[in-house]
Amino acid sequence: MSDEPKILVVDDELVVIRSAERVLKSEGYQIEGALGGREAILKMEQGTYDLVFTDLKMPEVDGITLIRWIKKSRPNIGIVIITGYPSQETMKEALELGIIDYVPKPFTPSVLLDVTKRAVEWAEGRKPAEEKAPEEFPPAMAKELDRVIREYRHRPGSLIPVLQRAQEIVGFLPPVVQKRIAKGLNMPEAEVHSVVSFYSFFTMKPRGDHNVRVCLGTACYVKGIEGVLDKIKEQLKIDIGETTEDKKFSIEGVRCLGACGLAPVMMIDQETYGALTPSKALKVIGEYGGPVSSQSPDEETAAVAGQEG
Ligand code: FES
Repeated sequence: MSDEPKILVVDDELVVIRSAERVLKSEGYQIEGALGGREAILKMEQGTYDLVFTDLKMPEVDGITLIRWIKKSRPNIGIVIITGYPSQETMKEALELGIIDYVPKPFTPSVLLDVTKRAVEWAEGRKPAEEKAPEEFPPAMAKELDRVIREYRHRPGSLIPVLQRAQEIVGFLPPVVQKRIAKGLNMPEAEVHSVVSFYSFFTMKPRGDHNVRVCLGTACYVKGIEGVLDKIKEQLKIDIGETTEDKKFSIEGVRCLGACGLAPVMMIDQETYGALTPSKALKVIGEYGGPVSSQSPDEETAAVAGQEG
């Protein structure tokens, strides 16, 4: 990266671009503006940038679409979002897409400078994901995690909800996250670690793109989830708690998904699938891009008959 990092500010409000320009140019950053996602893509096709600061809500090509384009076509550009009040879903999507940080809108010069400085440092020291040291995770995630910790800090029984939220934000609970939570909630690291290890819904390893949660509760067990699980494991060639080599799927065993009337049940990401048979489960996994089932309808009939008998 050159001594003067080049930043593209994307917003459909000119006033936001102008104020970012005013603040950042005086600190030696090279700034250009784009009044929307479409213009931003055109600019990136013609020039090089170190960072893109983008609004999320824009007509035509919105921020999330733009971020997806950058990740695919210009993966070396670091992304920061400038946003008012994003919904939890949008924020989660942006974090999953790998943004570095976010600036709340309207911003003060010091907040903008602070985020820019961190983003430049992050972008300069960035390594490919596989090589990333576990101590590093994007400031946006750290910030969101700290916000959750602050929110729960004085509530009794806060550890489990904080861990759940942390897992949603980071995707898993590596030691660096557990440490941050222990410090924030003022409790021993060992206590956090033992809770993470005890509950099967917490994971210390990164999960695949799609998390297959298979219910191992009593109602599902009685209705034959074991046979379903065996087929899924066989098809994906992984066990519970593991992730496929291509990082597409992980399998998790859970106690009850709260849909016992539909037993046997599994969830893939946020979708629930009930009344499963082994072949139905494989068909659903195929719809998520998983290996296609080689099971014949006869085997299916046998499986169902086995459950009934
Ligand atoms: S036991 Fe499986 S959903 Fe409740």
